[in-house]
Order: sequence, then structure tokens, then C-alpha cells
Amino acid sequence: MVPADVFRDQPVLTGDRVRLEPVDARTGEHLVRAVVDPDPEVRRLTGTHRRFTEEEVRAWAASRPEHADRADWVILRNEDGVCVGDCALLDLDADNGGADYRVALNDMAFTGQGYGTEATDLVLEYAFTVAGLHRVALQVFDFNGNAQKSYERSGFVREGVWRDHLYWDGAWHDAVLMSILAHEYADLRAARSG
Ligand SMILES: CC(C)(COP(=O)(O)OP(=O)(O)OC[C@H]1O[C@@H](n2cnc3c(N)ncnc32)[C@H](O)[C@@H]1OP(=O)(O)O)[C@@H](O)C(=O)NCCC(=O)NCCS
Repeated sequence: MVPADVFRDQPVLTGDRVRLEPVDARTGEHLVRAVVDPDPEVRRLTGTHRRFTEEEVRAWAASRPEHADRADWVILRNEDGVCVGDCALLDLDADNGGADYRVALNDMAFTGQGYGTEATDLVLEYAFTVAGLHRVALQVFDFNGNAQKSYERSGFVREGVWRDHLYWDGAWHDAVLMSILAHEYADLRAARSG
């Protein structure tokens, strides 16, 4: 349905307030501190149990350009170039035109200002109008209402839950599954421009 290396020419995506640059050895430097020493609330909201060393983050970032089956970006704020987070299309299912999406701002101080939602809008525009995907899906934990609002604003539709998918601080939490299909994105795009 789409080539297995569909993300080979991963572009810079530019919006009004943020610019998304592909992750590589240079741009990945922006992520080192945030990944090695994460904001505890961002860690909880993303359900990130694993810890990473500086070496692991640098090796991961440097190897991104070799991977044409996923697309990772740093999110840079236009006004001052500060890196506010990162996002990615991953788990490409080329035969069926599907991929998963993830996004996280680095610090809760950056949330609530539309940066993450704009990043998602930019990635969906690329995913459907350039890469030619049919479906983009994500998981978000049941307790993360703000993220669910952001995703709904970008056009994602709730499609179900994985029960007890996260064990965090002694409690189980469901993962809410959301997706957006190519024709839904086309309708949204037409409504926005009309
Ligand atoms: C989820 C995320 C990417 C959304 O990006 P964002 O730029 O913060 O989104 P927005 O500013 O458009 O906010 C979306 C909604 O959440 C609310 N919100 C977001 N952060 C908030 C905060 N810190 N305090 C209060 N409300 C907040 C906004 O007011 C908005 O609600 P509204 O639709 O009622 O106006 C970002 O908040 C984030 O990275 N959070 C931490 C990590 C995370 O949750 N990642 C997603 C894992 S699935």
C-alpha cells in the first residue's frame, strides 16, 4: 500500500509556532537532558518505566536517519529555537498503510500552549498528503484527559481501550485507543480551509 521505506525523505515540517526537524546526531542533542532526567509528570503521563543513559539517547538519535520505516522529529519553538518536545510516526505497517503516532513535550511548563497540538497537525498533514498513509493510530492513558483533548482537536477518534495496559504507582490503567483515517483527515482539512 505504501513503500516500506516511505519515510526515507523525512522533511522539516514548519508551522506558525513550531518547526519539526528530523532527529539525528545534531538535533538529538536537544533531547538528551529531557530523556535522561525527565519531568516526573511527563514520565507519568507517557507511562515511561524505562530509564535511559546519555550514551543510549545519543546512539538512538544518531541512528535515526538509517531508519526509513519510522520518522522522528524534535519540536522546536519558532520564536526562540528552544526544543519543547519530540514526536514520531512509528510501527509502520506498509502493506496496510498504517502507522502509530506519539508526541511528548519535554516539560509540563510547555504544555497547554498549543505546541503539541500544532506538532500533531503538522505530522498528520505529512502522513496523509505526502506519505500517503491510510490510518494513524495512538494510545493514550485513561488519566491523560488533556492529551485526549489535544488529539481530538487534531481529528483523532476514540475507538476502544486496552484494559489494564499500564501499571503505575500500584494501580492499573486502561490505554485509550484513538485513530484517524485518510478520508477523515481529508474532510477535516476541507472544513478547516472552507
Ligand atoms: C499531550 C500534549 C502533546 C498536548 O499538547 P499541548 O500543546 O499541551 O496541547 P494544547 O495546548 O492544545 O492543550 C490541549 C488541551 O489540554 C489542556 N491542557 C494541556 N496542558 C495543560 C496544563 N498543563 N494545564 C491545564 N490544561 C492543560 C488545554 O487547555 C487544552 O484543553 P482545551 O481543549 O479544553 O482548551 C502535551 O500536553 C504533552 O506533551 N503533555 C505531556 C506528555 C503527554 O501527555 N504526552 C502524550 C502521551 S499519550
